[in-house]
Amino acid sequence: MTQDEMKRAVAQAAVEMIAKRLDKEMIVGVGTGSTANCFIDELAKYSDRFRGAVASSEATAVRLRQQGIEVFDLNQVDRIEVYVDGADEFDPRLNLIKGGGGALTREKIVAAVAEQFICIVDQTKQVEILGNFPLPIEVIPMARSYIARELAKLGGQPVYRSGFVTDNGNVILDVQDLEILDPKTFEKHLNGLVGIVTNGLFALRPADVVLMATPEGVQTLRA
Ligand code: A5P
Repeated sequence: MTQDEMKRAVAQAAVEMIAKRLDKEMIVGVGTGSTANCFIDELAKYSDRFRGAVASSEATAVRLRQQGIEVFDLNQVDRIEVYVDGADEFDPRLNLIKGGGGALTREKIVAAVAEQFICIVDQTKQVEILGNFPLPIEVIPMARSYIARELAKLGGQPVYRSGFVTDNGNVILDVQDLEILDPKTFEKHLNGLVGIVTNGLFALRPADVVLMATPEGVQTLRA
C-alpha cells in the first residue's frame, strides 16, 4: 500500500467515524494538508447531511467550496462537535507536532473550540518522543531574530522558512534538533515568549483519537 493509499484509507475511516453523528445543524472543523484534503474529498460525499465546515486555512476553504461544502467563519459558529486534521508527528499520549503546512495557528484555534479532535495520519507519523520533525513556530515578522535567539537558548536550531508567509501575514521558524521530553511544559514555555503567535506543539490540547493507517488497516489509538 502506498502512502497516498494509506491517506485515503484513514480519511475514509474518519468519515465513517463521524457519519452517524452528522445532522443538518452540524458544522465540521476541517484541517489542512494532504491527509485533510483526502478527508474533504470523502466528506463531500455526505455534503447534504450536515450544515457546513469551518476551515483551518485558506487552502482548505478553497477545497471545501470546490467540493460543494459551505464554509463558515468561526465567529458565526457556536459549536464545533468534531475537528479532523492530520499531523506531522504524534506520540503515545497523542501529543502532536503540527504546522508542516504552515497552518498551525488556525488549526490550534479550531482544535481549541472542537469538542473532539480526530487526528488522521499514516504510520510514518508515529514516534516515541516528539522533535524529529522540525517544530514549526509562527512568529510576528519583526520578532524573528529575537525569537530565533531564544529558541537557540532552548537547544534547538531554528531555520527560517524563507519565502513563506502564513494566512495571518506572519513567518515561520522550523526548529530542528529538539527532543521534546515534556511537551506540555515546553508548549507553555513557548506560549510565554513575546513575538511567537503560535507554536506547533499540540500537547495542552492533544488529539482525542488518532486514526493511524498501516498497510494492514486503520488502527484507532486513544491515550
Ligand atoms: C498543516 O499546517 C499541518 O499541521 C498538517 O496537518 C500536517 O503538516 C500534516 O500534513 P500531511 O497530512 O500533508 O502530512
